[in-house]
Amino acid sequence: MARVLIIGAGGVGNVVIKKCAQNAEVFADILIASRRLISCEKIAAEIKSAARITTAQVDADDVPQTVALIREFKPDLVINVALPYQDLTIMDACLEAGVNYLDTANYEPRDVAKFEYSWQWAYQERFRKAGLMALLGCGFDPGVTNVFTAWMHKHRFDKVETLDIIDCNAGSHGKHFATNFNPEINIREITQNGRYWKNGAWIETQPLEIHQAIDYPQVGPKESYLLFHEELESLVKHFPDIKQARFWMTFGQQYITHLTVLQNVGMTRIDAIDFNGQKIIPLEFLKALLPEPGSLGANYTGKTCIGVQLKGEKDGEATTHFVYNVCDHAACWQEVQSQAVSYTTGVPAMIGAALMLTGQWKGAGVFNVEQLDPDPFMTMLNRWGLPWQELAGVELVP
Ligand SMILES: NC(=O)c1ccc[n+]([C@@H]2O[C@H](COP(=O)([O-])OP(=O)(O)OC[C@H]3O[C@@H](n4cnc5c(N)ncnc54)[C@H](OP(=O)(O)O)[C@@H]3O)[C@@H](O)[C@H]2O)c1
Repeated sequence: MARVLIIGAGGVGNVVIKKCAQNAEVFADILIASRRLISCEKIAAEIKSAARITTAQVDADDVPQTVALIREFKPDLVINVALPYQDLTIMDACLEAGVNYLDTANYEPRDVAKFEYSWQWAYQERFRKAGLMALLGCGFDPGVTNVFTAWMHKHRFDKVETLDIIDCNAGSHGKHFATNFNPEINIREITQNGRYWKNGAWIETQPLEIHQAIDYPQVGPKESYLLFHEELESLVKHFPDIKQARFWMTFGQQYITHLTVLQNVGMTRIDAIDFNGQKIIPLEFLKALLPEPGSLGANYTGKTCIGVQLKGEKDGEATTHFVYNVCDHAACWQEVQSQAVSYTTGVPAMIGAALMLTGQWKGAGVFNVEQLDPDPFMTMLNRWGLPWQELAGVELVP
């Protein structure tokens, strides 16, 4: 029976909170805290659960404020589903107040569109010495994709040679242009150069330069674009046998056309410009105009399909396996008033938290998800709303 502080009451926060509340045997006492109290209250009002739910306002950029909240509530774990900008301040607060930590996206500085684990891996010694655990990237991708890789590595392969993570959203929200998770973070991710791992080095590409059609189970063929994604960095570190690691994501033509225009006119810039005597950052202004991810769910139709293909060897034979989940937007709305992108992120965060709180995943230091036993996580995915399937001997990505 644990106490958990969940910071961030946006699209993903809504799902994590509701899934923790469904699992009241583990999450008995939940404090929801966010920059605006109203975001927390709206979610809390929709929950009927045996768990005790309370709300608080916090600015998680402010370490002393966050420490004070942790000391007052005394949680066993802090789940960070605010923005990547808050990762380090929340980790600092957890160290100071002596509590375990979990997030779903790695730290990014506000002024450089660059995401890598170096900043958070640098906390390894401090968490280890404090006897605390920090679990990084426990959403879907990163998160479940790391678990799928670790599970196949453990049960299906003696040696892995290539890794392809494929992420398809074949849903429709009916808006001209919207992003499925925080618009600022999403646009920063997609407009930067692509990158993939080949024979011990990173190969850089132009944004969205490499693409091909991939035939997704239950969804069909969709044009998929090579991007850099953060789990590639930790997976090639923890599975050094992998010679090639790539990440592919689908985008519709309408999305790409809008994004190209916004880029061409300067609306995706992250440096401050002067506007009527005031400094504004165009991308922050654009975010204020776009729909919030949490508001997209009501009329969303279609499915997501996200999975991992590994190629390698088992018992001296070449083999290929693909493990994946298909998630339906409308079913997510029915269950927790969310679209599938927030849902597929929030459920794994709850599962990772439950495994930490029940001692099935434990350790002192900073961990990526693939460093822990994938088996209990795979079992819980089936139980908590993200059932997975497997294809053997079929090559989806050449
Ligand atoms: N691993 C994955 O598969 C995956 C997939 C999608 C998203 N993500 C990550 O999930 C996180 C949440 O994404 P989202 O789509 O839920 O975004 P979102 O809807 O924009 O929600 C972000 C929330 O963070 C809160 N927040 C922002 N700054 C804060 C601060 N200084 N202090 C306290 N709260 C603050 C906001 O608060 P208010 O509403 O109170 O203003 C908002 O509710 C992001 O880090 C994103 O990168 C991971």
